[in-house]
Amino acid sequence: MMKRIFSGIQPSGTLTIGNYIGAMKQFVELQDEYDCFFCIVDQHAITVPQDRLKLRENTRSLAALYLAVGLDPEKITLFIQSEVPAHAQAGWILQCISHIGELERMTQFKDKSSGKESVSAGLLTYPPLMAADILLYNTNLVPVGDDQKQHLELTRDLAERFNKQYNDVLTVPEVRIPKVGARVMSLQDPKKKMSKSDSNQKAFISMLDEPKQIEKKIKSAVTDSDGIVRFNKEQKPGVSNLLSIESILSGNSIEDLEAKYEGKGYGEFKASVAEILVQTLEPVQKRYYELMKSEELDRILDEGAEKANKIAGRMLKKMENAMGLGRKKK
Ligand code: AQP
Repeated sequence: MMKRIFSGIQPSGTLTIGNYIGAMKQFVELQDEYDCFFCIVDQHAITVPQDRLKLRENTRSLAALYLAVGLDPEKITLFIQSEVPAHAQAGWILQCISHIGELERMTQFKDKSSGKESVSAGLLTYPPLMAADILLYNTNLVPVGDDQKQHLELTRDLAERFNKQYNDVLTVPEVRIPKVGARVMSLQDPKKKMSKSDSNQKAFISMLDEPKQIEKKIKSAVTDSDGIVRFNKEQKPGVSNLLSIESILSGNSIEDLEAKYEGKGYGEFKASVAEILVQTLEPVQKRYYELMKSEELDRILDEGAEKANKIAGRMLKKMENAMGLGRKKK
């Protein structure tokens, strides 16, 4: 039997090339080898305030992007988290075996809550819901960007804890993080990761940005003043980030790119980074706009929800039986 993959993305804005490189690009490479479940995690998105109409729009748009990058609905299962109630139910169970201290230690919680007077309880309990997403599907492998590593470790801990306290029902998943580009950085503050919810539009390239916007954003990307295109994450974070992006998208090694720009300035370098981004995104955007108009999208999401509900419902029953919740279920 094929091993199973689960991965989710929040519809909290239009995807950035960070999400593409750290997550989606890998998905396309994995769809032939694994039984893939991809989830639009809208319940995670509401851990911070969302506009109702915008959330709907982002959810649909994310579904179209999943397919536009080349994921084949004949091979993968694509669905929306809130359409599969077992996620929230299993999430509650896993919250009840999580400790507040370990949730407070999550760096994403610290980052997203820092400086805020008040944050939702959901922002704190997001990781057990994420663990539920993954564990409901007997997932073997979770392909994510480097920023999610800590949440994945918690998922593994929670699965082991549940199995030990109750019954051995959960599969403990492995993590898969890309070697290069696991963390694409902000174009305006290259010490920070690129995020789709960044309030500064110039900090990220969205997957739906037009060529002109891409050129402008890359042109204004923060670099340094020494004018040498060389990879050094500590001393030249801005240049290194752009080099990584070009390397991943073009398939050329960092060394080859350093040689290519030997004796050349940042102008030429940035123009070439913008060009490869435009080339990568153009076909994706074309397919995206076709899909957004079609009825195909709803059919795919309906089928995905049906299949996910069957599998997740079965696992939820096992978890509830193991804990003695409700009456014994068959
Ligand atoms: N900058 C990044 N570099 C590489 N991978 C990244 N991912 C996110 N940012 C980068 C990967 O994208 C997947 C989906 O992430 P998510 O939407 O579930 O949440 P996130 O990690 O919080 O992404 P954002 O863009 O930063 O969203 P907001 O701004 O809403 O919090 C994950 O696999 C993640 O690793």
